[in-house]
Amino acid sequence: MRHFLDLASCSTDELHDLIDLALCLKAEWRDGGNEPVLCGKTLGMIFQKPSLRTRVSFEMGMKHLGGDAIMLGAQEIGLGVRESVPDVARVLSSYVQGMMARVFDHQDVLELAEYSRVPVINGLSDDYHPCQALADILTIRERFGRLGDLKLAFVGDGNNVAASVALACAHFGIDFSIATPEGYEMKAPIREQAIEIAKGNGTVIEMQTHPQLAVAEADVVYTDTWVSMGQEAEARERAGEFGAFQVNADLLRQAKPTAIVMHCLPAHRGDEITDEVIDGAQSQVFAQAENRMHAQKAILARLLA
Ligand code: CP
Ligand code: NVA
Repeated sequence: MRHFLDLASCSTDELHDLIDLALCLKAEWRDGGNEPVLCGKTLGMIFQKPSLRTRVSFEMGMKHLGGDAIMLGAQEIGLGVRESVPDVARVLSSYVQGMMARVFDHQDVLELAEYSRVPVINGLSDDYHPCQALADILTIRERFGRLGDLKLAFVGDGNNVAASVALACAHFGIDFSIATPEGYEMKAPIREQAIEIAKGNGTVIEMQTHPQLAVAEADVVYTDTWVSMGQEAEARERAGEFGAFQVNADLLRQAKPTAIVMHCLPAHRGDEITDEVIDGAQSQVFAQAENRMHAQKAILARLLA
């Protein structure tokens, strides 16, 4: 593994290795601290969009492993505007030992990787959010003690988070059922990637428009915003389309009583999820957020050490 750009281009073995390593690094950190395996290394972090979790969890992850991180916000680099993406990749990779980029167009992160001399990590693009999905698998593994024989229902928009969660489920053998309004399905090529990966282990990848059917007998109920970063102009129209796709107590009752609730955050309370559910006993959203740091430390250790 040279870069971490999307889960379709990782092997299932590489992803299992990252989860195992994340569990070790998390235990080590809780035990007093990690080995400084990234001493002398710096991660350059490019952000075209805002962030709380991704920015802070990468920066703290680097510090825990003995390294450093530099934050480069949208106003500083002007990726593809002030300077071409290949030139940014060439220059930045002559200073730092790894790059993390949060971009709009997924092509930009692919192009950074193509022209970079150092590993590139996708910290969210319009198409994928692989670091989120890896952390989510870590959370599911911790809560259930296993990854097999589980069903995850995703309710809402077929967006970047849905895409990466679908691919993660395909790799790890978790049955995946997504309910979206018509017109907001996962992109066909990404759906096909997930189905292709799932074929290898008999996992079910299912799309539909009925939240109740998707959630039936689910072990995990997952949702995300109806309006992703960059789609703000569609907010009003989307609110009208997604009303029936709210994760609330009624919908959650269709899942198994032992089901957990997940959300990548930031949440729009009262829209895609109610306060009662996100603050309820089944919610794991803050464990997910913490696990971003532990899962990413595994990625950093594998790519940069
Ligand atoms: N979940 C997530 O990526 O959060 P941020 O946008 O705050 O980084
Ligand atoms: N789908 C959301 C995820 C935020 C972490 C977005 O892209 O804005």
